[in-house]
Amino acid sequence: QAPQAQVDLRSFIRDLPDYPSPGITFRDITPLLSDPGAFAAAVHRLADLVPADTDVIAGLEARGFIFGAALAHHMGIGFVPIRKAGKLPPPVHRYTYDLEYGTATIELRQDTIPTGARVVILDDVLATGGTAAAGATLIEQCGGRVHHLVFLLELAGLSGRERLAGRPVSAVFDL
Ligand code: PRP
Repeated sequence: QAPQAQVDLRSFIRDLPDYPSPGITFRDITPLLSDPGAFAAAVHRLADLVPADTDVIAGLEARGFIFGAALAHHMGIGFVPIRKAGKLPPPVHRYTYDLEYGTATIELRQDTIPTGARVVILDDVLATGGTAAAGATLIEQCGGRVHHLVFLLELAGLSGRERLAGRPVSAVFDL
């Protein structure tokens, strides 16, 4: 058994109550990142959830970049960033989705996904699923196929899977 199998990843998530607003608990992943054994264990367990025939990992800004890039490197496949609006040079596809208050917009370069490529969308947290659903739409607009959506942690009370209904979703652990 690999040494990473012993690591309790939940214990490396720090809860910050009432941040960024009253009643919200922020799940801080930075203790996990700064511990080399925990970070390695997280990447290995994410890799266990990614289908072997995946062509590319698409990470969602910003924390999906950290895990997604490490995972793509670990698997020996490419990485593509899905960015918040205004960061990527044109031509981009753009998708705007609703938040509890207001909207958010994310973008993907039109030429970054080979037609028909099997893409795994990767992020640290699945909450309401709005960001991941928007990312899936962008991948398809660019001609890719959403092969699987993989998260480090799922906030099970927020029904993110319902928003992603019909798509294959996996998470390393839930809270
Ligand atoms: C967080 C998290 C996911 C998203 C999940 O990112 O990293 O990307 O929210 O929420 P949802 O399932 O309700 O869409 P955030 O927008 O805080 O951006 P950051 O990673 O740049 O801090």
